[in-house]
Amino acid sequence: MRKVPLTESLRIIGRGTRNWVAGRPIVVSFEVTDACTCFCKHCDHGGARDESRNLKPADYPRYMEALRPCVVQVSGGEPLMRPDLTEIVRNIQCGNGLPYTILVSNWSLMTAERYLELRAAGVDQFSVSLDFPDARHDEFRGHPGLFSHLQDLVPRLTALGHDDIVLNSCITSENVGEINALADQARAWGANLCYSAYSARRTGCRDYLLNSTDQLATLNREFDRVEKRRDDTNWIVNAPSTLEATRQYFELSAAPGCKAGLRFLVVTADGALQPCSMQFGKYKLEDRTRMVEEFTAHNTCDECYVSIRSYLDKSFPKLLRENVQEFLSVKAR
Ligand SMILES: C[S@@+](CC[C@H](N)C(=O)[O-])C[C@H]1O[C@@H](n2cnc3c(N)ncnc32)[C@H](O)[C@@H]1O
Ligand code: SF4
Ligand code: SF4
Repeated sequence: MRKVPLTESLRIIGRGTRNWVAGRPIVVSFEVTDACTCFCKHCDHGGARDESRNLKPADYPRYMEALRPCVVQVSGGEPLMRPDLTEIVRNIQCGNGLPYTILVSNWSLMTAERYLELRAAGVDQFSVSLDFPDARHDEFRGHPGLFSHLQDLVPRLTALGHDDIVLNSCITSENVGEINALADQARAWGANLCYSAYSARRTGCRDYLLNSTDQLATLNREFDRVEKRRDDTNWIVNAPSTLEATRQYFELSAAPGCKAGLRFLVVTADGALQPCSMQFGKYKLEDRTRMVEEFTAHNTCDECYVSIRSYLDKSFPKLLRENVQEFLSVKAR
C-alpha cells in the first residue's frame, strides 16, 4: 500500500490530533447516494432510490469546514452512480493534501478514465468490494458479470503503479473459508486487501454471522495463515490488532466500546448527520455536539466491527503508531 508523503502525513497527524482533543470526528463518511447498482445479500441498499434531495457538489465544502476530518470516505449506496462524483471529490479537498480520501465502491461502473479522473480530483485510496474470488461474487451481489468486469479492470489499473487499490472483503458465514483465496486474488491482481466483518444490524439477518464452532475455527485458521503472509509492502491493510479484534467480534457476535458520532460519523445523501450508517437518528450539521451528548455518550450498541470502527476504537497513541508504521511516511519512533 502506497505510503502518504511526509508533508501530507504531518498535516494528517496534526489535524487528527487537534480533532481528537477538540472532540471533532477523525473520519467522516459521505454517503453520496442511497441508490445502488447491486442487490447484495448482506446489505439494505439495492436498486433505485429517490435522489431528488441529494446534496449537490457545492454543498460539501460547508460540511468540510464545519467537521474538518482528516480522513473522508466517499460511499453510498454506490457512489459511482453519481455523474457529478468527480466534482464532489474535488469539493471535499481542502487544498493542502487533506483530507486523505477513500472512495468505497463496488466498481460496477468504474472505467480506466474515471479512475484517473477521480485520482486527479483527490481520491487517495480506492476501496473495491470483493466477496468471492470468482463468479460467486456476482451471485452474492445480485450483479451478473461483475466479477469478470473486476478481473479485466483491476489488474489493468494496478499495472499503472499507483498502489492505491484495496480490495475490501466483508467476511460472512458464506465466504469465511475464502479468506486466503481472496488474498490470492488480491495478489494476482496486484492489489492490496482489507478485511471487514459482517454485521446483522443492517438487515436483521443473523445467518451471515459465524454461528458455529466450525465457522469460528475456519476464521481462526484462515487468519493465522493471513498473518504469515504479511510483508513490508503492507498489502494486508488491516493492522494485526484489528484482525485480533475481528476474531473477538465474531466470537462474541459483539464489539463493545463504539465511538460512533464522536470519532466518526456519516453525512447522509440528503445532508443529515448520523452516528453511523446503521444508526438512523438524524441531526443537522449545527447539532453535532447534541448528537454526541444524546447518542455517543449513552451508546450501548455493539453490533458491528466495520472498518471505520476498527480504525477508531483504539487509543490515540495506538492509532497513531499503527498508522505511522503502515500508511504515513514518518518514522514510528
Ligand atoms: C455499504 S457499501 C457502500 C459502497 C459500495 N456500494 C460497496 O459495496 O463497496 C460499503 C461496504 O459495506 C459493506 N457491507 C454491506 N453490508 C454490510 C453488513 N451488513 N455488514 C458489514 N459490512 C457490510 C460492503 O461489503 C461494502 O464493502
Ligand atoms: S454493499 Fe454496496 S453494492 Fe452491495 S447493496 Fe450495499 S451499497 Fe450496494
Ligand atoms: S457498533 Fe457502533 S458503528 Fe456499529 S452499528 Fe452500532 S453504533 Fe453503529
